[in-house]
Amino acid sequence: MSKAQQGNCEQAALWNGPSGSAWVEMQDVLDRMLAPFEMLVSQEAFPGEGGRVLDVGCGAGATTISMARRVGPTGHCVGVDISEPLVRVAKERAINEKLGAVQFVQADAQTYPFEPGRFDSVMSRFGVMFFDDPEAAFVNIRCAAQPDAKLAFVAWRSPAENPFMTTAARAAEPLLPNLSTPDVGAPGQFAFADEGRVRRILKASDWKNIDVRPIDVTGNMAEQELLTYVTKLGPVGAALRDANVDEATRARTVSVVRAAFEPYIQNGIARFTMACWLVSAHA
Ligand SMILES: C[S@@+](CC[C@H](N)C(=O)[O-])C[C@H]1O[C@@H](n2cnc3c(N)ncnc32)[C@H](O)[C@@H]1O
Repeated sequence: MSKAQQGNCEQAALWNGPSGSAWVEMQDVLDRMLAPFEMLVSQEAFPGEGGRVLDVGCGAGATTISMARRVGPTGHCVGVDISEPLVRVAKERAINEKLGAVQFVQADAQTYPFEPGRFDSVMSRFGVMFFDDPEAAFVNIRCAAQPDAKLAFVAWRSPAENPFMTTAARAAEPLLPNLSTPDVGAPGQFAFADEGRVRRILKASDWKNIDVRPIDVTGNMAEQELLTYVTKLGPVGAALRDANVDEATRARTVSVVRAAFEPYIQNGIARFTMACWLVSAHA
């Protein structure tokens, strides 16, 4: 198997397995939490009515569907995602909303043979940090774009700037020896934390006019939803899925994690800052 074919096997397994199921289950909560980013990327990437847009790592399709409404019936939006369960939900949503100008494809955006020059713009809400070979992925995505097409995506800044996102792992670490957090830069939520790396990847894949802007957005989530989120997704979710973790440790972990989030919670709602990059460029 070539490196490109092996590509994103690990991420494909995660997003077609536990992470995909957890995102499907929590789709409403996550869409509410991430709604401000839907506005940001769709404003940045909007190519005008009738435009053709590619949404990379579209998940359950919230951003693709929102952009499909913006570009209208003469436009066309394609969401691509490696996760079969998430693409299934996205397709159902488009049918329920009776949107014709939208299509979802289950594929690895790093290697999928897109029609060359098909899209007037490319966008992503936290869907481009999982590539095993980001340069190859961004070359492939650029080939799908028209010359001068706009690229706009959001990606998380560093764990230090997003302490809320690492609270659960820091609290649970002493209880879960199997807990592992991916290195910053490895495929995963913090792969694009380093601004210089983002610029290097886009430059090497021949994107122009690269702009990387820090954006801080306030998020909120009900306490119970937060606990479900952190115990099903991310490093704590992965460690708790291990069959060797006994019930007592599980219960203790949930309690320790709940206590660690207390400074963020008021009246049953957690409020926190989401520190991101808003990245734009042209093909
Ligand atoms: C953090 S989720 C974001 C989902 C969606 N953009 C949203 O905001 O709701 C990351 C998404 O990227 C997808 N993904 C990961 N690697 C991918 C790849 N190589 N090609 C396409 N999609 C990928 C995952 O399946 C997942 O749906």
